[in-house]
Amino acid sequence: MNSENIAHYLSDISAKVNEYIENNLLVSKGELSQNLCEAVRYSALAGGKRIRPALCIITAQVFGFSSEAVMRAACAFEFIHTYSLIHDDLPAMDNDDYRRGKLTNHKIYGEATAILAGDALLTLAFEWLSDLTNYGISSDKATRIISIAAKASGSMGMIGGQMLDLESENNKIDLIALEKIHKSKTGALIVAPTLTGAILAGATDEEIDVLKDYAEKIGLLFQIADDILDVEGDAQKMGKAIGKDKVLGKATFPAILGIKDSHKYAQKIREQALNVLSKLTLQTDKLEQLAGFFISRKN
Ligand code: IPE
Ligand code: IPE
Ligand code: MG
Ligand code: MG
Ligand code: MG
Repeated sequence: MNSENIAHYLSDISAKVNEYIENNLLVSKGELSQNLCEAVRYSALAGGKRIRPALCIITAQVFGFSSEAVMRAACAFEFIHTYSLIHDDLPAMDNDDYRRGKLTNHKIYGEATAILAGDALLTLAFEWLSDLTNYGISSDKATRIISIAAKASGSMGMIGGQMLDLESENNKIDLIALEKIHKSKTGALIVAPTLTGAILAGATDEEIDVLKDYAEKIGLLFQIADDILDVEGDAQKMGKAIGKDKVLGKATFPAILGIKDSHKYAQKIREQALNVLSKLTLQTDKLEQLAGFFISRKN
């Protein structure tokens, strides 16, 4: 499968995820604030590549498993991710006006509502994960997934990474410190849906360990590509501003290694990810192609 095919495959998954969110994400029936509902749905349905749900769905597929439970868990990770973006764009953080080709949540609804819309999405994600038991998933598996999601989202994961990202603004840090930021702020929420897909599908502990190693690598890769795109990307295609990392003095791969070596580094990590995958005696071609897509993507 070449990169065009995987892009097609991903857009298929993303259409299904969009449809599921469209039909199942809270809609106000008068009992809750219309404004909050609109703000939540605005960002959750604004587009986006749906990479995290895709990882959950594709990993479950690798084990031959598909069920509505996989879709619900996949969406839960997308809710956590979307909340992280709403908050990341706030004036107190990266102060961005555009996201997914549209005005950012706070630009439309105001900061207070944007904060609450993010909080609502985070909370809803855990509601959906705990409800997995209503979709044929054992309480043991659901509890394990909830724990993975909580750790990946919290101070040892995305939030911890976001804090390090802010604290590193205008500071010179080394490659090891930068990898730590990227692995937590972005990698954690790439690893968690991958593990979730595997757990839902009944993967063994050995298989889960290999997939964790793979996902950590492509999670790092994903943020290296994001840093590179902030320098070389096209704002129109990306649906968000470019050049902001330099303005904000962010710690990024291009800032530390330069753009050429950042590309080389990304390729090196991709090869490592493929080597890890080769330990699995399963059909992992889509996961392999995803690693390539993470580098070649233009948005
Ligand atoms: C953007 O994530 C923020 C990062 C963690 C790099 P995505 O590039 O997955 O954004 P969407 O979901 O497609 O908008
Ligand atoms: C964001 O990283 C990571 C999150 C946890 C949201 P960035 O700040 O680099 O993401 P973009 O470039 O705004 O999408
Ligand atoms: Mg940021
Ligand atoms: Mg940002
Ligand atoms: Mg960025």
